[in-house]
Amino acid sequence: SKGNHRHYMLKEIYEQPIVVAQTLRSYLKRMEGEVSLPIPEFDLSTIRRVTIVACGTSFYAGMVAKYWFEQFARVPVDLDVASEFRYRAPVMEAGGLALFISQSGETADTLAALRHAKAEGQKIAVVVNVPTSSMAREADLLLPTHAGPEIGVASTKAFTCQLAVLAALAANLAKAKGLLSAEQERDIVRHLAEAPAALNGALAYDEAIQAMSGVIASARDVLYLGRGTDYPLALEGALKLKEISYIHAEGYAAGEMKHGPIALIDEHVPVIVIAPSGPLFDKTVSNMQEVQARGGKVVLISDYDGIQAAGEGCIATITMPKVHPLIAPLVYAVPVQLLAYHVAVAKGTDVDQPRNLAKSVTVE
Ligand code: F6R
Repeated sequence: SKGNHRHYMLKEIYEQPIVVAQTLRSYLKRMEGEVSLPIPEFDLSTIRRVTIVACGTSFYAGMVAKYWFEQFARVPVDLDVASEFRYRAPVMEAGGLALFISQSGETADTLAALRHAKAEGQKIAVVVNVPTSSMAREADLLLPTHAGPEIGVASTKAFTCQLAVLAALAANLAKAKGLLSAEQERDIVRHLAEAPAALNGALAYDEAIQAMSGVIASARDVLYLGRGTDYPLALEGALKLKEISYIHAEGYAAGEMKHGPIALIDEHVPVIVIAPSGPLFDKTVSNMQEVQARGGKVVLISDYDGIQAAGEGCIATITMPKVHPLIAPLVYAVPVQLLAYHVAVAKGTDVDQPRNLAKSVTVE
């Protein structure tokens, strides 16, 4: 049931602190300060390459994971949307792990890609939310998310749980390859364990987000910008807004703006900039200023320090708790979800059942 919430989507957004904690429990030994996998005997030490394949929001979780696998485990990562994967003759060598990410575990394109990779001799890992699904059954390494049933068509809690599993998998891979000191492992566990409280902190801004959602609800087009792991978040924010509010939205890598999309900027196109303070902050802010110099109306999503440093001149700001960069993608998922939600409610669309969409896409 929806409980006190008006829509399943809102209920599921609010479940995130609990379900992320529930998911992390299978992948972290908090007391020991160690990461772990549900199948400890699966040998990750021989993995030389990772191929990530998924669709939609699950694909964006995979995109975040690419940054993590490269950073922590130093393995090359290929990333494809499932509907393209089989049609571009992907090279899959021995020692490859093919990783499929899916809430439903039934998405036809992703399942077909899985079978193709299996036939090519890849080890198959799946991150799925439905443990009885086809993908779960066909995996060598099953990595369940424990988000519980997701009813809203727009994926929310499944996404943050996928990110939790993928961060833990990246750390496990790094460990298996001998790249993680005990201290680094303890730090990763500590940062991931902070995610549920940080998600609660993000949810506390729900009313503030609702209050500023009018500037987006009246727009025809909206742009989202981010850099590093916030780039997939920009893509996810745009997808969420499109699918439930029917407002045209695009996500771009912040640095890519000046290579074309900046031509779209005028006072009618709100630009949502996702920029937690951290090593990439200054670069993203300079891209934001390029937008402002052309009359663009910016909504900055950052933490208190980031908003102090760069919030002036923005039409609105959304303050997030200050978090470690590892968990920022989980935490910043909340404001983009809530913003899309409140805009859709303001526009009176069917939030839980957006037009033309199905929860599980079982045709290729
Ligand atoms: C967006 C959304 C879709 C799904 C996509 C993949 O909110 O829900 O983009 O993420 O259809 O579905 P799964 O994860 O079930 O493979």
